[in-house]
Amino acid sequence: MKVYVLNGPNLGRLGTRQIDVYGVTSYADLVELCESTGRELGISVTVRQTDAEHEMLGWLHAAADEAAAVVLNPAAWSHYSIAVRDACAMLRAPLVEVHISNIHTREEFRHHSVVSAVATGVICGLGVDGYRLALHHLATHRDQDG
Ligand code: DQA
Repeated sequence: MKVYVLNGPNLGRLGTRQIDVYGVTSYADLVELCESTGRELGISVTVRQTDAEHEMLGWLHAAADEAAAVVLNPAAWSHYSIAVRDACAMLRAPLVEVHISNIHTREEFRHHSVVSAVATGVICGLGVDGYRLALHHLATHRDQDG
């Protein structure tokens, strides 16, 4: 089973970015967490981050072509990118949307994600542990989900 863990803008700054909101785990630590979880679960995990929307769209198109599952933190794009949502709608395997912070307890503009309606499920507010939980869910349901 192949899973792409895709991260949107500013998530490469984890560990130094608003640590009161996002914690002290660095992006490198997040990559290691996802890769080691993948090894533990026996699934192939590829972790990526970009600040460029067109690059994210290309990765989502590739995941759709490969029928690969996706764990996506769309970051700020969650709140306004219809292009990212449309690319997510093309996916053929489960999509778990992850937010490190609880977007519902923050500024009102963060309360709505345009991606959530096309996601299989959403995890938010559990810190970087949300990524681990998302991978566990996908691995547990791998037979049903292809
Ligand atoms: C985020 C929440 C978004 O509102 C924000 O723009 C991010 C990160 C999160 O992981 O909590 O960049 O997706």
